[in-house]
Amino acid sequence: ASFTILDASINDVESRFSQEHSIKRSGFPHGFLFGAATSAYQVEGAYLEDGKSISNWDEFCHSKGCGENGENGDIADNHYHLFMNDIEMMHSLGIKAYRFSISWARILPRGRFGEVNPLGIMFYNKIIDNLVQKGIEPFVTIHHEDFPQELEDRYGSWLDPQMQDDFVHFAKICFKSFGDRVKYWITINEPNLVAEMSYEKGNYPPNRCSQPFGNCLAGNSDIEPLVVMHNMLLAHGKAAKLYHEQFQAIYQLLSKQGGLIGLVAHCFMYEPFTDTNSDREAAERALIFNVGWSFDPPIFGDYPQEMREYHGNELPRFSQEEKEFMKKSIDFIGINHYSAIYAKDCTNSSCQESANRIIKGFVEITGERDGVLIGDPTSMPRFFVVPRGMEEIVDYVKTRYNNTPMFVTENGYSSPNVQDVEVEEILHDIKRIEFHQTYLASLAASIRNGADVRGYFIWSLMDNYEWTFGYNVRFGLSYVDRKTFDRIPKLSARWYQDFLKNNSLID
Ligand code: NOJ
Repeated sequence: ASFTILDASINDVESRFSQEHSIKRSGFPHGFLFGAATSAYQVEGAYLEDGKSISNWDEFCHSKGCGENGENGDIADNHYHLFMNDIEMMHSLGIKAYRFSISWARILPRGRFGEVNPLGIMFYNKIIDNLVQKGIEPFVTIHHEDFPQELEDRYGSWLDPQMQDDFVHFAKICFKSFGDRVKYWITINEPNLVAEMSYEKGNYPPNRCSQPFGNCLAGNSDIEPLVVMHNMLLAHGKAAKLYHEQFQAIYQLLSKQGGLIGLVAHCFMYEPFTDTNSDREAAERALIFNVGWSFDPPIFGDYPQEMREYHGNELPRFSQEEKEFMKKSIDFIGINHYSAIYAKDCTNSSCQESANRIIKGFVEITGERDGVLIGDPTSMPRFFVVPRGMEEIVDYVKTRYNNTPMFVTENGYSSPNVQDVEVEEILHDIKRIEFHQTYLASLAASIRNGADVRGYFIWSLMDNYEWTFGYNVRFGLSYVDRKTFDRIPKLSARWYQDFLKNNSLID
């Protein structure tokens, strides 16, 4: 398959950028991995092919409609059939790593209650073999949102500790089947966001709310987000223990790189709304309640002290044995970073609904102060363009975790114009180039200051299904024609390709 780069007006790009935005490949360490990311439900389609069962997202999208125009991931980008073309596209871009996820329902249609589906294994073998053959490092996310619906129906998925057993069973099959070629594993994508979207706000399946509002089944217990997070963290810890004990050493002997395993969290940067103590503390609390909640257990073996003080017995506890295996259960930290946002204390005033005490610790978040936005808006309500946030969040994680190796596992831009936009305008995505240029410059600054960041993944390789928004929210380097499924590289793809060749469009 050929990759015809859009040969649009590079001059426009040149004139837009000042020298200070200029960032080059050579501004990053030699072995630094540049890549792009996707996830199974968002790109694969083929939702019932070759033995795959119905997932929680299939069920949700079919019963409730889960995109602005009733869209869903049944076909998505048809990557299941076009993966060879997509790998060719990555190769032409010159990326050195591809982060993708495995559809749990394709590998284990009935979870641990049924057999492994050999056609599912075969599909990912083909992807991995072709990536390796092209010199592209596979970064595999074992679980990214979708799981067999049967696990929801049987016992309520992440609300029940049984889900830990199902996850470890699934992870083991992945390690066994793909571990000889996959050297970078991510157990779970953004558990902190899943807890919020699925169990606090109720926007994502299984649509449970811990507050009497929102678009969900009412009256659930307040602490469900804490419970599901606990189960996800333990599932991570158990799978990592298994990997470290049974797989890493063998692969070390066989291939010298035994493989690394990490966890990815959704990491906003929080800045105080005003320069008062209470707002400064609110910003600190928001970081602890997100970043600390996600990474303290797998690094230090327990939740942050501040969360324990705040929640008391509502916060689940790790047993002594669990603390031991949780500790050091990650080899690297995965940061999904898109935006910085203001944090405002509302402990003593009336909070907006979104400042839910459980997830947010009475911190209201807002992108606006005195009528001025913190950064340019995007199509995502809470995502603003704030390049300094990248350096700030990396520095925060570096300090809190004693410079544990980090990867920026996602960073990307979706234009605020989503309705009735001409394809030409979508392809001529100057703003996306500017976004990546400025965020990369900010990342390079933190690396110069000693942060051990080892790679950067653009979300996303191509436009795809954005959870509950549908296909008009576009993060891709390539546009996907929804009728023909042709991939058309945007100008940003051309920029990334040039950047990776160690050129800069604006030299
Ligand atoms: C994070 C998620 O991992 C990904 O699935 C999603 O599409 C992007 N952020 C953009 O919202």
